[in-house]
Amino acid sequence: MRTLTGIQPSGTLHIGNYFGAMRPAIEAQKQGECFYFIADYHSMTSLFDPAERRANTMDVALDWLACGLDPKHSVFWKQSDVPEVCELTWLIGSLTPMGLLERAHSYKDKTARGLSANFGLFAYPVLMAADILLYNSDLVPVGKDQKQHLEMTRDIAIKFNQSYGETFVVPEEQIRDDVATVPGLDGQKMSKSYGNTLDIFGGEKAMRKKIMSIVMDSRTPDEPKPDAEKNIAIQILKLVAPADVALDYENRLRAGGLGYGDLKKALFEHYWNFFTSYREKRAELAGNLDYVEQALTDGAERARSVASEVLTKARTACGLS
Ligand code: ADP
Ligand code: TRP
Repeated sequence: MRTLTGIQPSGTLHIGNYFGAMRPAIEAQKQGECFYFIADYHSMTSLFDPAERRANTMDVALDWLACGLDPKHSVFWKQSDVPEVCELTWLIGSLTPMGLLERAHSYKDKTARGLSANFGLFAYPVLMAADILLYNSDLVPVGKDQKQHLEMTRDIAIKFNQSYGETFVVPEEQIRDDVATVPGLDGQKMSKSYGNTLDIFGGEKAMRKKIMSIVMDSRTPDEPKPDAEKNIAIQILKLVAPADVALDYENRLRAGGLGYGDLKKALFEHYWNFFTSYREKRAELAGNLDYVEQALTDGAERARSVASEVLTKARTACGLS
């Protein structure tokens, strides 16, 4: 069983990324082979500053390693260090119907939000399919927003296999219901592009301020709140606090008597404690960047040996060699 996932270095990673994609990926290290990468080619569709891309890439590497990715066990690399993925994008792109890409939610959302519609943004799902198929991946842990991309990957793999003969493993998505969509501080999906995130490794003062400024309604502390489970602070508390503690807060909010200020204070404390050991690990790694660089270089070499085998098979299947 091979698990693969990627995260773009397009901004600072937040707890939605952690609970939706990174934690399931890290847990998968106990079970089988793991392939995890930093999707820097994908970041080119929305980020146009080279210095920022370079800095974000190192930050994402530190975040992954600090949260428990073990580069001895898992293959961990930077997407663009294995450029074979671009060739595979072409091979499968030529079998991908325009209509399939035109229906992509992420493309429609991004252009609706004002991102200019470049070829890269349109071809984004094909590059993502190439990422997955190039490494014979069985399982892809992602948040719910990536579900359609996984369906497209499966469609593309099946079409290639039918047209040119059995070549690719058809992958399965892994979307955990409990964390399919982590809400942002404004109640929408938490996302780098919505400015509503709680960073995994934000500074203490800034994160406290962010949590304390979550906007709630004007009901008084004593009023019972029958909709307590919908409260954003409660929903996030369920991720970072032990289950019985979170449930106790939810019940107290429902019954009346718990003020929003106290709830937010508790949320901050649990959030902060949840990531303390990871924070320590990250500080240690940040003082040893050579180790991080070396881990990525070694990972790229391991990734490349699998990639070149699968690419050769695909090239042969479609008559290029
Ligand atoms: P963002 O929306 O912040 O730009 P990405 O698209 O880079 O995040 O997502 C990286 C990974 O994190 C993907 O697998 C995505 O599904 C997951 N993810 C992102 N935001 C959330 C969220 N709010 N809840 C659950 N998973 C998420
Ligand atoms: N599109 C994914 C995201 O924005 C990142 C990504 C790129 C990815 N290639 C992938 C995720 C392959 C899983 C598998 O979150």
